[in-house]
Amino acid sequence: VRTAAVIPAAGRGVRLGPGAPKALRALNGTPMLVHAVRAMAASRAVSLVVVVAPSDGATEVRRLLDAHPLAESVAEKTEVVVVPGGQTRQESVRLGLAALPEDVTVVLVHDAARPLVPVDVVDAVAGAVRAGAPAVVPALPLADTVKQVEPRPGGEPEPVVGTPERARLRAVQTPQGFDRATLVEAHERVELAGEGATDDAGMVERIGRDVVVVPGHEEAFKVTRPLDLVLAEAVLARRRA
Ligand code: C5P
Repeated sequence: VRTAAVIPAAGRGVRLGPGAPKALRALNGTPMLVHAVRAMAASRAVSLVVVVAPSDGATEVRRLLDAHPLAESVAEKTEVVVVPGGQTRQESVRLGLAALPEDVTVVLVHDAARPLVPVDVVDAVAGAVRAGAPAVVPALPLADTVKQVEPRPGGEPEPVVGTPERARLRAVQTPQGFDRATLVEAHERVELAGEGATDDAGMVERIGRDVVVVPGHEEAFKVTRPLDLVLAEAVLARRRA
């Protein structure tokens, strides 16, 4: 079994505020994407990492990764390649999948925006796929109660249409792990309008295949808004202490 990780990193990250593409923002002086690549390569299962760069930024991303090489022992087992991405996350993942060599049978898809995922989560996801699950997602229970609403434009109060039972909800993270053929089929068959799919497991659900959840980790949170950068740097500082 050969396992590869695909890292979609082509998003602009507008919710983070103005500046460079999100994946290229620094955390404690090191680009978020570099942290994400290291997190995938830290797993002994992962022998290839495919980074999906902004469509006009593949050269810059390659240069950046070369400037932050993996530790020698890790680089020996893990190759890192860069391909240009697309307009949506879904398209970027599809382009990453298209770059995989034939012998890869297990694929992890990991957001560059989750730079601090612990290796235990990566191993657990990869292990569950290797053990036979077609799709595996790491997830955590929710602290907040969730309401479904009827969206209204422009700050108008939004009517609530439902409250799903919190104990049965999970907030899903990445890396999400897949049997390669299953994920490729999902990307071929499922075409979603607008911003496309926000996660890959949802596409696998749509083609009727089983998806299972394994425990996620609070350090696998997604860096989306400015406060998340503060939290991420605090986590790194705690790791170093
Ligand atoms: O925007 P969001 O936080 O959902 O993005 C999740 C991941 O998808 C990020 O790592 C982002 O770089 C990536 N992405 C991408 N191509 C896009 C949009 C988002 O690779 N067109």
